[in-house]
Amino acid sequence: MIEFFFATGNDHKIEEARAALAPHGIGVTKMEGFTKLEIQHPDLGEIASSALALIVSKTEKPVFVEDSGLFIHQLNGFPGPYSSYVFETLGLEGILKLLEDAKTRKAEFRSSVAFGVNGKWLANFSSATEGTIQSQPRGENGFGFDPIFVPMWTSKTFGEMELREKTIYSHRAKAISKLALWYLNESKIDPELKPKESIL
Ligand code: IMP
Repeated sequence: MIEFFFATGNDHKIEEARAALAPHGIGVTKMEGFTKLEIQHPDLGEIASSALALIVSKTEKPVFVEDSGLFIHQLNGFPGPYSSYVFETLGLEGILKLLEDAKTRKAEFRSSVAFGVNGKWLANFSSATEGTIQSQPRGENGFGFDPIFVPMWTSKTFGEMELREKTIYSHRAKAISKLALWYLNESKIDPELKPKESIL
């Protein structure tokens, strides 16, 4: 069984990654004892890659980091890369207040994953999920902005979905699945992708 290490402090993200990678036969272990350094940058891919660069300098294991954010159309993409800070400071109520007279409630979650193995950064994968911001929070599941976001093609918020259902729509699950498909294909032909530790 292939095992990827996920460098995150967010246990919800670990569960989501497990649900996304299990169908590909890949397990997920939470990487302990690291600090995810987050640079300020408008591009989530740059944030994920620079966080990964530090982590791969300390381990040979197959490891990935993920950076995500909620981009609200009426607010020109805010909070975007600042979503975590805005969630802690303004919270759901603060975002709903900013949208009180909004002309559009369209938004998208974006996710960017950076992957490396044997001490090297190797690839990035991104995905997005479009949807709308509700006027009231609904549902107890998940984390962050889950209770106010309804993805396209459904009427439930992420907060009302069980993990398996969120995995169908989630920006993170889609980006992580791209990583899995790429890895499973490329590692057949590129020995660099096999962890040296497992070969020894
Ligand atoms: P980061 O990726 O750890 O920088 O955090 C991004 C922030 O965006 C989180 O703290 C949440 O507030 C928000 N966010 C990202 N993805 C999700 C999601 O799947 N559900 C709810 N909120 C999310």
